[in-house]
Amino acid sequence: MGYALAGAVRHEGHEALLISGPTSLDVPEGVDFVSVTTAQQMYEAVRDMVGGVDVAILCAAVADYRPVSFSEQKIKKDAERMELSLERTPDILGSMRQEFGFGGILVGFAAETQNLLAGARGKLEAKGCDMVVANDVSQPGVGFDASMNEVWLVRKEGEEKLERDTKYHIALRIVQESLSLVTR
Ligand code: C5P
Repeated sequence: MGYALAGAVRHEGHEALLISGPTSLDVPEGVDFVSVTTAQQMYEAVRDMVGGVDVAILCAAVADYRPVSFSEQKIKKDAERMELSLERTPDILGSMRQEFGFGGILVGFAAETQNLLAGARGKLEAKGCDMVVANDVSQPGVGFDASMNEVWLVRKEGEEKLERDTKYHIALRIVQESLSLVTR
């Protein structure tokens, strides 16, 4: 979705910066690109670059937890059971307003399997977003690992459904709506 959004931003005639974890996708033409591997690296890249940005759309499905420790070497299977200890990763979207001091238009994503609109509205308020794109990821054929998507655009004033379409068309609508918030 991030790649489709970056392409759509270029299509609308604006500069685009894409910060992405590993994928097999081609970076759309004319898009500035920063490659990251971990949630921590993405947090730092966003923090360092957000100063020059008017509209930030945060759509990455960032891992919410990471292992507390990791091994440089192969872990031998000595024990019958193994507990994995996890800790929270930094909440990038939740850091944008207070920690990073971002004053531009902020668009977040909410991937939910239940209570889609309530979850999105909670995120809108808690994270100081101007818009949240709500994605029901329990539906087959849309969202993660699919070329199609179907989303709701949730704003303070109300919500609007974007019917099932290619990720590129959905991205174009999201970008157009986000840009329209700049001039409101
Ligand atoms: O996973 P969830 O639906 O809660 O994510 C909502 C939003 O938070 C998305 O915009 C996602 O990019 C962002 N996020 C983040 N930092 C994380 C996890 C998610 O900014 N560690």
